Amino acid sequence: GNGSNAQALIEASKQADSPFQVAAVFSNRADAYVLERARKHKIPAHLVASKDYKNSLEFEQVLHEKIVQFSPDLICLAGFMRILSNYFISRWPEKIVNIHPSILPKYKGLNTHQRALDNGDKMHGCTVHYVNEKLDAGPIILQRKIRINKDESADSLAAKLLKEEHIAYPDALRLILKK
Ligand code: GRF
Repeated sequence: GNGSNAQALIEASKQADSPFQVAAVFSNRADAYVLERARKHKIPAHLVASKDYKNSLEFEQVLHEKIVQFSPDLICLAGFMRILSNYFISRWPEKIVNIHPSILPKYKGLNTHQRALDNGDKMHGCTVHYVNEKLDAGPIILQRKIRINKDESADSLAAKLLKEEHIAYPDALRLILKK
């Protein structure tokens, strides 16, 4: 993606009654636009370039050490395209959340929009969920659904759904933090 969900969280955090603030933004890719978005909002933007590390464990160790300095209450994944290992996940129990572009448990993994179309689904949606060691399978926090039109393409569906994601993600954080 291009960091639009992160942007939605940043904007929501600026509302006077927001129960969350964005302490920092991390990316594993230097070319991720989210880093620029964060800087524009004067939010610390950190690159931990996964390609510079020998393996996932080394990458995750550095990522963990850097994130821990901010003592976050939550880590929000948004378009993060790596699967976190148990090393990282076990250090942040019930603190990592993700947004996924499907009505989970349907369509875990990639190409969710095309798969929904190929299956002739009438509805599509997005899910905010906790991250555990199984891919896209942690407890669901919130979902939003949209109707699939007759002439829909994967691109039009993705664009339509992204708008819902931008509502769903801040809503999910407010829900968690209210508890
Ligand atoms: C979104 O569709 C999200 O559901 C998925 O990756 C995409 C990221 O888009 N996990 P963006 O970077 O937030 O624009």
